[in-house]
Amino acid sequence: MTSSRQVPRWRDLEPFLKGRPVHRNATQRRLSRCLSVDDLERLARRRVPGAVWDYVYGGSDGEVAMARNRAAFDRVELRPTAFGQVADPDVATTILGRPATAPIVLAPTGYTRLSHHSGERAVAAAAAEAGLPYTLSTYATTSITDTARAAEGGRNWFQLYLMKDRAVSLAHLDEAREQKYDALVLTMDTTVTGMKRKDKRNGFAIPPQLTARTLAGMARHPGWVANILTTEPLRFATFPEGSTYGRWGMSNQLREQAIRPTDIAWLKERWDGPVVVKGILSVADALAAVRAGADALVLSNHGGRQLDRAPVPLELLPEVVDAVGDRTEVYVDSGVRSGGDIAAVVGLGGRGVMIGRAYLYGLIVGGQRGVSATLDLLVDELRRAMCLLGTPDVASIGPEHVRLRAS
Ligand code: LAC
Repeated sequence: MTSSRQVPRWRDLEPFLKGRPVHRNATQRRLSRCLSVDDLERLARRRVPGAVWDYVYGGSDGEVAMARNRAAFDRVELRPTAFGQVADPDVATTILGRPATAPIVLAPTGYTRLSHHSGERAVAAAAAEAGLPYTLSTYATTSITDTARAAEGGRNWFQLYLMKDRAVSLAHLDEAREQKYDALVLTMDTTVTGMKRKDKRNGFAIPPQLTARTLAGMARHPGWVANILTTEPLRFATFPEGSTYGRWGMSNQLREQAIRPTDIAWLKERWDGPVVVKGILSVADALAAVRAGADALVLSNHGGRQLDRAPVPLELLPEVVDAVGDRTEVYVDSGVRSGGDIAAVVGLGGRGVMIGRAYLYGLIVGGQRGVSATLDLLVDELRRAMCLLGTPDVASIGPEHVRLRAS
């Protein structure tokens, strides 16, 4: 049967030509075009000087661990339950015993004001608004107190690089306690800072020793330069102004380079809340951390920025969950960049994920709004994945929904 023909009438197409919503603001317009973390990454790359991008994006040595982190998530097969369909799954969960709107924690990232002058304040405020915990780094460019003030009603965690001089770490604990931080995150994997070759070539250090090429790259981003020069100076702001730590906080010599289980016990005695141990990459270390009192673990290879060719957290997750049981919450970071990734982690027994680069891309593109857009995007993707998987709530995503394919 042939359908009858008529003279073409453009008017008939009108209902389909509604167009995109009009955004008066350029940032909103840019963000509205980003439909994935990959889109945010592409846009972010163009918006900061090359040296800043290299620092945010790069991995250590040959970037093998970084690539494997992503490759592992690409191997994830999500297996739906066709007869268990749900239209409106609930993505809420609990994190360290308190409600969270989704199984997502914002990871600590060093130097955040380099990505965007609004830095840690913007990220903490976006996390607070979204109902998710935010982790402030020891190497933050905003102080513990200023971050807390920017995130009224938020739930902040403090990431601790334990210092050889324990008095410096105790001062961090005191300020975090005073500002009602919720948990401590002890990072284990930074005996020395990983070798990021591009950073080295760019002269990226504290204090910066920028090369002519790096400076030329900055000149191509006058907006970024103007924002940095007209806001408070960049420094490691969790340390007192003018202290050696503020200037040389990255220095390997000042950090504790031999963290032992007794240090976890030491922290537990001095901190009332939960202690999360981050950078665990073996079952033996997971068990040792739990025995020493860790309340939660983060399986992490630091986004592929520390030991290159380190194990991939996602692949290690089932063994660790098996070994520690439900005594301890287990989180995964390194390579998480979609709601499907989050579903995979939860299905394999993780309590949730930490995201780092993903929110930095949003921050670069649109400050606080950009971080909110990233979080909205991830939560939407998770909700849609759960809808299609047939899992009504986070607790019902199980190992039967996830398989790691051989390739
Ligand atoms: C980094 C350190 C500061 O990965 O955590 O850059």
